[in-house]
Formats: sequence, structure tokens, C-alpha cells
Amino acid sequence: MKRMIPVLALVAGLVLVLVAAWLAQPVLAQDGEEDEAGGSLAAWRGAALYAEFCQACHGPRGEALGEHPAFAAVEYDPETAQDVIAHGLDTDPNDGVAMPPYAGESGGLLDGAQIDDLIAFMETWETDDAPPLPEPNLTTEIERVSGYEGDPQAGATVYAKFCYGCHGEQGEGRGQPIFSPIRRTSEIRQIVGLGYNSEYMPAFGAEAGGPLSDEDMDNLIAYVASWPLERAAAGESDTPIGLNLLIVFMGAAAIIGVAGVYLTNVVRTES
Ligand code: HEC
Ligand code: HEC
Repeated sequence: MKRMIPVLALVAGLVLVLVAAWLAQPVLAQDGEEDEAGGSLAAWRGAALYAEFCQACHGPRGEALGEHPAFAAVEYDPETAQDVIAHGLDTDPNDGVAMPPYAGESGGLLDGAQIDDLIAFMETWETDDAPPLPEPNLTTEIERVSGYEGDPQAGATVYAKFCYGCHGEQGEGRGQPIFSPIRRTSEIRQIVGLGYNSEYMPAFGAEAGGPLSDEDMDNLIAYVASWPLERAAAGESDTPIGLNLLIVFMGAAAIIGVAGVYLTNVVRTES
């Protein structure tokens, strides 16, 4: 039996290395896939930024999401896009909505290169090879809180698409007034459904002409209820889960490999 230990350890190590290599595939192959599927890398980067910051109001491709003016259709216009994205737009000060400014110098979160990437993405709307929007990266199991009928997992998806861009991971905000922290309040249904005292916080509820159904709203509220009362500190690690697993497996493989070699030596010395 002693003789078997190093062999087993080496086999286990090998299996782990193979699993790690398999896990690494999507992480390492990303760039190559992007080229194959058409569209420039800038447009792909732009699609990710668009999913994060813009789809909440403009839908996946600028189509109308609801009757409320915040969710009206927009078209890509090469003459004005740069300026509107950087500095915002408020054509009708009485309609209670405005396009937020996104350039850093105007209180936004994007630099010039990122705005160029967004434009590269919007330019593809007129072609057949617009890159798809990435789905929200929700890797953790969300705990149900009793007393809420909604499905918090579905609510996390609603939050990722419609709220995360402005309010951050768990409502901690993103360090600018437009990208403000939010309270976990019992009035959330009213605030989110009917709007708030900022023209940048649209009325998302279907009753106000927004894109969120009553069910979406229940799910969203169940999700927000799952946040810890003490919010996790902002700026936690953004490493994708694939990469974390990969590192764990690589580490385990290395340890088992070393142990295997060590045990082999022990067995050799003993016999
Ligand atoms: C809070 C909702 C909201 C978000 C989020 C938002 N917009 Fe807008 N956007 C608007 C509104 C409302 C208008 C129309 C403003 C007006 O005409 O007064 C608009 C107008 C525009 C226009 C001009 C459209 C035209 O017809 O001239 C462009 C381009 C645009 N948005 C792009 C973006 C991009 C890119 C992002 C993400 C970086 C984004 N928007 C995020 C609400 C939003
Ligand atoms: C375009 C940016 C933007 C988006 C998208 C957005 N909000 Fe807001 N939200 C704001 C701003 C700006 C305020 C006003 C902050 C203030 O006046 O203190 C606000 C206010 C709020 C408030 C009240 C603030 C408080 O004191 O707690 C809540 C709750 C809230 N938002 C939830 C949401 C939820 C949930 C979503 C997604 C359905 C969402 N918001 C999407 C910008 C946004």
C-alpha cells in the first residue's frame, strides 16, 4: 500500500492539472474568440461598457424599453454621440429625465478611450456583426430572506442590468453624486417604481411606463433584502470565478505534486 501512495498522489496531481487547463480555456481563449466572431476589439469592449452603464435606459441596442421618456428609443448619431455621452443631455427640462454625463471631468466614470469604445460598439448597430452584450456575471448563490416573496436570484439579474452601473455592487455607490450610494429602505418599491428627486433616477415601474414588471420589482426587493446590513467595503476583488478556481486548482496540484515526490523519496529510503 505504501508504494501506491506516491503513484496515487501523482495521478491526483495530474488530474488536477488537466482540470485546471480545462478551466483556463475560456479565460485564455477570450481574445481569440472575439476576433473570430467579427467586430473590432474596441466594439467588444464597448459592448461590456454599454451593458454596464447604458442598457438600463436604452435597452440592448437603443430600442425603446418603455413609455417613460428615460426609456425612449435612441439612435446612434455620429455627430452628437461623443458629446452627449461625455457631457449628458437634457432637451426637455420638464420631463423629469436626462441623459447623465459619463466623462470623468463631468462627474462620470469613463475616460476618453472608454467613450471611444462605446461609440465603436454603437457604430456596429447598423451592421450585422454587433457583438452581443455580456450577461451579468452572477456567480454566488444568493440567500433567501424570509418574508419576501420574490426570487432574489432573479432579482440579482434585474439589479445587474438596471442598477449596478449607477449604484455599484451592493448599493455602496461608485464615488460620484450621480453614481450615489442607496439605502436599503422600506420605500424602495415607490422610489424605484415611480422615480426619485433626481432626473437621473428614472421611474422603472411598469405603472410609470418603465421596463420593470411587478414580478421584477418583487425579485429586486428580495435581492436587496439579502444584502448584509454592514455593506461589504467597496472595491472588493473583481477577479472572475473561473480565474479564482484556476488558481486554487493550480495551488492544489503543486502541493500534491511536491507531496508525491516527497513520499516517493520516503518510500525509497525505507525500502
Ligand atoms: C438614466 C437613463 C439613461 C442612461 C443610464 C443612459 N442614458 Fe442616454 N439618454 C437618456 C435620455 C433620457 C436621453 C434623451 C435626453 C434628452 O433628449 O433630453 C438620452 C440620450 C442619449 C443619446 C442621444 C440620442 C439622440 O437621439 O440624440 C445617446 C447617444 C445616448 N443617450 C447614449 C447613452 C450611452 C452610450 C449611455 C451609457 C454610457 C447612456 N446613454 C446611458 C437616458 C439615459
Ligand atoms: C443613471 C443612474 C441610475 C440608475 C441606472 C439607477 N439609479 Fe437609483 N438613483 C440615482 C440617483 C442620481 C439617485 C438620487 C440620489 C440622491 O438624490 O441622493 C438615485 C436614488 C435611488 C434611491 C434612493 C436613494 C436613497 O437615499 O436610498 C434608491 C433606493 C435607488 N436609487 C435605487 C435604484 C435601483 C434599485 C435601481 C435599478 C432598478 C436604480 N436605482 C437605478 C441614479 C440611478
